[in-house]
Amino acid sequence: MAERVLVTGGAGYIGSHACKALAGAGYIPVTFDNFVTGWREAVQFGPMEEGDLRDRARLEEVMRKHEPVAVMHFAALSNVGEASRDPGLYWDNNVIGSLRLVEAMAACKIPNLVFSSTCATYGEHDGVMLDESCPQLPLNAYGASKRAVEDLIVNFAAAPDVDLNYVFFRYFNVAGADPEAEIGEFHRPETHLIPLALDAVRGRRDKLTIFGQDYPTPDGTCVRDYVHVTDLIAAHVLGLEHLRAGKGSDVFNLGTGRGFSVREVVEAVAKVTQEPVPAEDGPRRAGDCAALVSGSVKAADELGWAPDHSSLDEMISTAWAWHQRPGYKA
Ligand code: UFG
Repeated sequence: MAERVLVTGGAGYIGSHACKALAGAGYIPVTFDNFVTGWREAVQFGPMEEGDLRDRARLEEVMRKHEPVAVMHFAALSNVGEASRDPGLYWDNNVIGSLRLVEAMAACKIPNLVFSSTCATYGEHDGVMLDESCPQLPLNAYGASKRAVEDLIVNFAAAPDVDLNYVFFRYFNVAGADPEAEIGEFHRPETHLIPLALDAVRGRRDKLTIFGQDYPTPDGTCVRDYVHVTDLIAAHVLGLEHLRAGKGSDVFNLGTGRGFSVREVVEAVAKVTQEPVPAEDGPRRAGDCAALVSGSVKAADELGWAPDHSSLDEMISTAWAWHQRPGYKA
């Protein structure tokens, strides 16, 4: 019988892509989601269990029912601007929720955890290409909440009576959509650059605002390392196999090592859609780092990861296909 993996946040953008990939790899993905930011329509690849991470009794009930071999933990609030305005929300949802999850895993003896972390845990390092050994000095409450979750998982894994191994993936900027357009990126409200630029092209918003033109980068706009969600999730399946092969806990950046400025992304959106992107210059957004680019090939070397789909064109064209599918309502 197929083994199960509990996917917290399985109704979200990245979690739903994980469910599809897990199903493709022969697992049954069990979505656990409170549907605050997730979408029921995205749960297409396995059972759905509604619940909040902060409800440990509900988590244990679901774990005992499905007996998963591992947990992939995506459920989190992830909006840098919102986190800067309301840090308590992020510490409560992301940190307390993750604490309850890890407690429930320990109680139910589930030994494998793949955790969705972020390059936002690194903060700003003055042009340094970020690798996994960079000090984690987050600039905002979102990054701080993710760093705290890493810390608590490390502490549990080191406890003598807990059998827990983990893989942390520190994501750079995730973009693109399922090439079959069954699922894609949707946030309420949308705050991410590529979907906002596509919305501007389609006239779903007046224009895109480019946040800040005076950063110490080649064209003055922020530089990010964009990675296709399909590639990102392929790494998660490799991470799961790494854990199940008994190779132990580890941490990996997931980025391509190539940075693009906001202006370069906007130009690429215009090229792919063959439409101008209505855009205006605006002030900096609180909490933004000038540049976040991965300087690591560890995931390639140790997991055999190859981010083959992460050209800007492929990320934008899959996102564009998702935006244009019939019934799009994000
Ligand atoms: N940007 C704009 N205008 C917009 C939206 C974004 O200029 O309307 C800029 C941002 O200032 C930033 C870049 O586009 O420089 C990318 O912004 P996103 O909001 O798309 O992504 P972030 O870099 O803020 O955040 C994302 C994820 C986080 C993750 C972070 C790591 O949302 O979860 O990447 O860089 F931590």
